[in-house]
Amino acid sequence: MSLSSLAATPGLPPFFTYQAGQLTVEDVPLQTLARQHGTPLFVYSKAALLAALAAYQRGLAGRQYQICYAMKANPTLAIVQTLVQAGCGLDIVSGGELERALAVGADPAKVVFSGVGKTRTEMRRALDVGIDCFNVESRAEIDVLNQVALEMGLRAPVSLRVNPNVDPQTHPYISTGLKHNKFGIAQAQVLASYRHASACAGLRVLGIDCHIGSQITQVEPYLDALERVLDLIELIEAAGIPLPQINFGGGLGIAYHDETPPAADELWQRLLQRMDARGHGGRKILVEPGRSLVGNAGVCVTEVLYEKPGDPKNFLIVDAAMNDLPRPALYQAFHQIVALAPREQAPSNWEVVGPVCESGDWLGRERTLAAQTGDWLAVLSAGAYCTSMASNYNTRGRAAEVLVDGACATLIRARETAADQLRLESLLPSAQG
Ligand code: LLP
Repeated sequence: MSLSSLAATPGLPPFFTYQAGQLTVEDVPLQTLARQHGTPLFVYSKAALLAALAAYQRGLAGRQYQICYAMKANPTLAIVQTLVQAGCGLDIVSGGELERALAVGADPAKVVFSGVGKTRTEMRRALDVGIDCFNVESRAEIDVLNQVALEMGLRAPVSLRVNPNVDPQTHPYISTGLKHNKFGIAQAQVLASYRHASACAGLRVLGIDCHIGSQITQVEPYLDALERVLDLIELIEAAGIPLPQINFGGGLGIAYHDETPPAADELWQRLLQRMDARGHGGRKILVEPGRSLVGNAGVCVTEVLYEKPGDPKNFLIVDAAMNDLPRPALYQAFHQIVALAPREQAPSNWEVVGPVCESGDWLGRERTLAAQTGDWLAVLSAGAYCTSMASNYNTRGRAAEVLVDGACATLIRARETAADQLRLESLLPSAQG
């Protein structure tokens, strides 16, 4: 089957289909990859990455805009490189992410730097390479960045991140734009902070920034935040501080289960309509999507190690665990789990769990699956915030990663070995007799 004829299979993300009874990504059966590279294995579709990006590009077409992929969602070099080569800029939150951005050849002039706790070292490196903008989150950070820039004889480009105090109606751990969250500058302090920043000789005020949360599945919280940010822009510009650019952050959700988030182009049509209606449509628009670009482009393939039927639960013990895919343990998140080659037998009800020594190490609860020891399963929607939040807990090596492009599959991250993990550690010198 050619790629162009692939229609979305109900219940599966685009570019993942069953062909001849085999779960296939683009033109490659996942079983082939599991056999070749072992499991747990993360597999991504390049076409899915580009299709997700294209929805934003359509939504913002005709405007002055920059899409800055929030690489915390998945910082694997080849993923970032794919998006950068398709025109994306990057949103970074650490010096490490900046080095990844440079390693893939990203243009620093398309890089924005977010985060509440930037260090002086990180600021110096970012100023040195010439990033587009620092999203500054507090009055104290304004002063430190000003000082660092002056020491370097530079002016740091800044947007101030404001906290619009709207409820994104998502999991409390991933809502960031409410006033009790640590992020952004409170509305009451915004004007004074802009006055202060615009008086700093080491800063150049470029715009305004907000990000209200993640896995947002409705348009309304965005519209609410937009209204409040536009009110603030009017207030700040009336005080004589021009704000040519507006950064609207990320946060658009994906379908993990039965969610129906708006498509990125639909969301942006609605937001642009509102901006135009209020006379703000001419500003440069920045967005920082993470999950909505990569989340549904990846799956985690895992092997069933043991069946452990029991009362009241049947456990299916698989070789992927909370260290590979921490979202269920951290947020009780739901990820669909399907067989790579579904069996024609009556399904059972399973708790799908990993080998890690914690009861929180589960990937799926109460799943109806016809699976046996030795079968491969795919945990869907695993492209965002899975490998990026992976750990070495239980001294488990990080999983390998493969990117599929049509019929071509490339290993983009080798499986981490025990030797890789031990490399940075030292034994104490032995006591002399
Ligand atoms: N911009 C800023 C300033 C952010 O803090 C984030 C995400 C993004 C953009 C991208 O948001 P996205 O489009 O991916 O929703 N680990 C959690 C998600 C944490 C999101 C943190 N900030 C999860 O697995 O659900």
